[in-house]
Amino acid sequence: MSEAVRTYPGTFVTFEGGDGAGKSTQIRFLARVLRDAGREVLCLREPGGTAVGEALRAVVLDPAHEAMSDRAELLIYEAARAQIVAEVIAPALSRGAVVLCDRFADSTVAYQGYGRGLDRSFIEAVNGFACAGVAPDATVLLVAPAETVRVRMGHRAEADRLERAGDEFHDRVGEGFAALAAADPSRVHTVESQRHRADTFRLVLEAVSEVLPEAGAFLASGQEVLDTVVAEEMARKRLEKERIDG
Ligand code: TMP
Repeated sequence: MSEAVRTYPGTFVTFEGGDGAGKSTQIRFLARVLRDAGREVLCLREPGGTAVGEALRAVVLDPAHEAMSDRAELLIYEAARAQIVAEVIAPALSRGAVVLCDRFADSTVAYQGYGRGLDRSFIEAVNGFACAGVAPDATVLLVAPAETVRVRMGHRAEADRLERAGDEFHDRVGEGFAALAAADPSRVHTVESQRHRADTFRLVLEAVSEVLPEAGAFLASGQEVLDTVVAEEMARKRLEKERIDG
């Protein structure tokens, strides 16, 4: 049972891609620009973003849960999605906010469909049920070279259950994302991660400018302004990390 896609006064942009592609950094940059332009911006991640979703996230990613079946895994991701859509995303879009979400329904097609090999038409149906008429206005598919991903993932804490799924699984996930982009080029914009974050950000801004005119206006303000925003946000991120690491 999937509902017809609804239109909202707000704007919904999702970021997709393999682990370590740099999604959260680009979301941070874009949120800063949109807030400076006066928009209300919510930055969310999936699974998560609600008390129920964060609890489900801990269950689905826990490396101790080796016994989890692929079907159970699929339904946990969908349960988390149903909750964040109802509790956070739909209300925010209704009041005109911008919602930037780190992963959404495309991840389930790529990871559980292509990666785990579960039935893709069933996944489409259950995605439709969980999303209840909410659909991204635009999706940025961030693709990073394998070496960059390896370095980034090396800096992270212990690998979670999905990150441990093996190279062949992650290759299939990558094929899934590429197929999604090819099937829906007007929504899914592939952005190749560049050596410099500011260059990647420029490509992200171009990708979303159609649905977020504020991004296009910011691009027109020039490279120097863009570089400054990126440098300030990276400095702020370092400070936050230092505070957390104590
Ligand atoms: P992340 O927040 O580090 O991206 O972790 C989420 C993990 O869950 C990541 O490995 C991708 C995976 N995932 C799925 O397998 N299916 C899904 O539907 C979603 C949203 C994420």
